[in-house]
Amino acid sequence: MTNSIPYGKQYLSQGDIDAVISVLKSDYWTQGPQVGEFEKAFAKYVGSKYAVAVANGTAALHLCALALDVNENSNVITTPITFAASANCVQYCQGKVYFADIDPETVLLDINKVKELIQSKPKGFFAGIIPVDFAGAAVDLEEFKKLADEHGLWIIEDACHAPGGYFTDSNGNKQKCGNGKFAELAIFSFHPVKHIACGEGGMITTNDTALYNKLIKLRTHGITKDPALLSQNDGGWYYEMQDLGYNYRIPDVLCALGMSQLERADAGLDRRREIAANYTKAFAGTEITIPLNVDGHAYHLFIIRIGNRKGLYDYLRNSNIFCQVHYIPVHMQPYYKMLGHKKGDYPQSEDYYEECLSLPMYPTLTEKEQAYVIERIINFK
Ligand SMILES: Cc1ncc(COP(=O)(O)O)c(C=O)c1O
Repeated sequence: MTNSIPYGKQYLSQGDIDAVISVLKSDYWTQGPQVGEFEKAFAKYVGSKYAVAVANGTAALHLCALALDVNENSNVITTPITFAASANCVQYCQGKVYFADIDPETVLLDINKVKELIQSKPKGFFAGIIPVDFAGAAVDLEEFKKLADEHGLWIIEDACHAPGGYFTDSNGNKQKCGNGKFAELAIFSFHPVKHIACGEGGMITTNDTALYNKLIKLRTHGITKDPALLSQNDGGWYYEMQDLGYNYRIPDVLCALGMSQLERADAGLDRRREIAANYTKAFAGTEITIPLNVDGHAYHLFIIRIGNRKGLYDYLRNSNIFCQVHYIPVHMQPYYKMLGHKKGDYPQSEDYYEECLSLPMYPTLTEKEQAYVIERIINFK
C-alpha cells in the first residue's frame, strides 16, 4: 500500500514560505505592493495588457459579468461541462444561462451547437458567450470571436484551468489563454489544485482600458479615490462610491504566494505535459480513450474515458488512489433543473459524464507513484 495519491495537489516551496513571511512582517496585509506586482507579472505571463487580481475565480466571473452589464435582459451561452461558477455569474446578475452541448472529440463547447442556438433565436437575443478552456485544453477562440463579432456578442474566456495553455491560430501562431486578443475578458483561479495556487485567489485579464477601469472600481465597493474621477474633493481623506461594487480584493500575502508560484509555472507545466505523455503512452491500445488530447494543453486535469467508470473509480480508491469526476453537467444540478433544464437536453455532455475520470495530475507526482497508478489501471478488469 502506498501513501494516498490525490487527483491534484498544491506544491509549496521554501521560496513560497519566505515570500509569504516577508509580507506578513511588512505593513501590508491587504492592499500592498504585491498586488500590483502580481498583476504585472501575470499580465506579462499570459500576454495581456491588464490584469486585475481578485479574491477567487468566482469573484472574477461575477466582476466580468457586472463590467459587461449583464442584467435581467441578458442571455448568455456556456458549456455544461464546467464548474458551476462559469454559469452562476450570469445568474448573479439576473441574466439567463443557455447551454450548448460539447464536441465529444474535444469535450469543449461545440461551436456548431452554439451557432444553431444563436440561429434558433431572434437577432440580438444573446449578449455573450463564456467558453471554458476545460481541463487546460484551449478553446479555438479565433473561431469563437468570428462568430461573436458576426452577432455582436462579447466573450468571457474561463481560463481557470489553463494558465500557460494556448491554441494555434489560422496563421500558425500560438495564442496563449487569456491574452485578450479574442475575448473581452478572461478569468483564472488560484485554488490549490490549480497551476498557480494562492489558497483562494483569482485574476481577470483584458486588453480593454474601459473594462479594466470598471473592474478596478467594482473590485472595491465601486469606490474611487482618483482625483480625476471625483465629482468633488473635500480633502486627502475623500473618496466616492460611484457604483454598487463588492469587496472582492485579494490580500497582499496571497499575492506574494502567487508571485512565487508564478515563477515556476512553466516548470510545472513541463512536468504536467511529461506526466500526460506517460499516461498517453501507457494506455495506447487499451479500451481507455483520452479526450482533449490537443496541442497547447495545460493539463490542469488528465481525463480518461472508460465504460466502467464507477468500477474503476471504486477500485482505485481501494488502492489509495483518489481520482475525481469533472464534471457533473451543470444543467443536471438541482438548481439548474429548477430553472427548466433537464436530463436529455445535452446528450454529448451526459454521455461524457458517464465515462470520465480525472487521474492524478500534479507536478510533484513522482515517477514511482505514476507507475503505480498506471499498473493499477492496466490491471483493472
Ligand atoms: C472552470 C472553472 N471556473 C471557475 C472556477 C471558480 O474558481 P474559484 O474556485 O477560484 O472561485 C473554477 C474553480 O474550480 C473552475 O474550475
